[in-house]
Amino acid sequence: MPPATADKTMEKLVSLAKRRGFVFQSSEIYGGLGSVWDYGPLGVELKKNIKERWWRSMVHERHDIEGLDAAILMHPKVWEASGHVAGFTDPLVDCKQCKNRFRADDPKIKGTPGQPDAQCPVCGSKGTLTAPRQFNLMFKTFMGPVEDQAAVVYLRPETAQGIYVNYLNVQQSSRQKIPFGIAQIGKAFRNEITPGNFIFRTREFEQMEMQFFVKPGTESEWFETWRAERMNWVKGLGIRDEKLRWHQHGPDELAHYAKDAYDIQYEFPFGWQEFEGIHNRTDFDLSNHQKHAGKKLDYLDPKTNERFIPYVVETSAGADRTTLVVLCDAYREEDVRGEEAAEGGEQRVVLKLKPSLAPLKAAVFPLVNKDGMPELAHRIHDDLRRHFNVFFDDGGSIGRRYRRQDEAGTPFGITIDGQSTQDQTVTVRDRDTLKQDRVAAGKLVEYLKQKLAG
Ligand code: GAP
Repeated sequence: MPPATADKTMEKLVSLAKRRGFVFQSSEIYGGLGSVWDYGPLGVELKKNIKERWWRSMVHERHDIEGLDAAILMHPKVWEASGHVAGFTDPLVDCKQCKNRFRADDPKIKGTPGQPDAQCPVCGSKGTLTAPRQFNLMFKTFMGPVEDQAAVVYLRPETAQGIYVNYLNVQQSSRQKIPFGIAQIGKAFRNEITPGNFIFRTREFEQMEMQFFVKPGTESEWFETWRAERMNWVKGLGIRDEKLRWHQHGPDELAHYAKDAYDIQYEFPFGWQEFEGIHNRTDFDLSNHQKHAGKKLDYLDPKTNERFIPYVVETSAGADRTTLVVLCDAYREEDVRGEEAAEGGEQRVVLKLKPSLAPLKAAVFPLVNKDGMPELAHRIHDDLRRHFNVFFDDGGSIGRRYRRQDEAGTPFGITIDGQSTQDQTVTVRDRDTLKQDRVAAGKLVEYLKQKLAG
């Protein structure tokens, strides 16, 4: 099969995601809601597996990081202190002709917005783009029954602030000593001007963030440590090395809170883009909260008796973007030969997901719906489902059933055939190699556990 072109790959991925139940457009029956997506039965499992892997490596496997689940709604002063009310903005331009809106730095705009030479990338009119104005990306709502300025609260645009305002609560209750970190997974919201590329840039998304509190002067060392740790974790998802790279933020790219920042980028079908950032946030956030809240947030070092406001090294990943990385990296179109081709066709689409991330670990197929095969298949399915998320499918030819599971990224296909009812063995087909092993039904749990490790 010839290699798929870039935008066709995204189109095909979005279509597969819907067909197999990974991701659906939000409120689809009403025509959809701009850049908001729902995760279906397979998508919720895939994203959950990624989040659990992150939590395990960042919280459970470390003595120096604690977990937190802070509320989405926070005191509005949090966002004044953090600089988001004043500075979390994008430059916005409107086209007076077609009424579309763009980020002022949209590469599709020719010329300088606000000037007669500027051309609208949608309707092509010249001189109709307004001069840029700053647009705040935070969603606002009201707390309580009165909808006035005093009742305004924001939907958090990052989970990090819930960690900063709780850092002393966590430190004191868990008796951690600096250096230590706090990790959190949760929803964040941004009223993006130009969302898009499926689940890459959305208005509601999930972040997996960790703030590591360190003694001032040690932050550069910790920054490098966390860069290495996070790249290792990403590679552990099974992502191809050549599709990953670092990008250091230049002075004009740095967020208002960051002194230094590196992105981990992936080569998506639409180009190299970040999906995780490592940031040196200095004492920017804690100092500002101390000032605005009027509460001391310094730390007393029990060894040296020094008091200081910790510096923060942040690792910030998007759960949805990481899910998109995993999906893009796993997506393959392949030619098939031999018996498989005869049964299921000469081409297949397959998600080569790392088995431990795959939503379904195995599918159980009775070869035909007679001669005791369905009964044995159900018994095996019931046994396996106590250990793994497994699927039962007795619909259509075995070749078609394999192809459906290839698209779902299911690493193992277990077929119960005529021999199975005689000697209690089954065939296990490997999604990637297409090789089949004959395995005793009683040994399946052990067999799969071994294959799913890692
Ligand atoms: N606390 C730091 C922070 O929020 P960021 O670079 O703005 O930093 C971190 O966001 C990560 O959150 C990004 O690398 C991306 O994976 C995810 N993210 C940010 N905006 C997003 C959006 N609109 N849609 C999906 N994911 C987003």
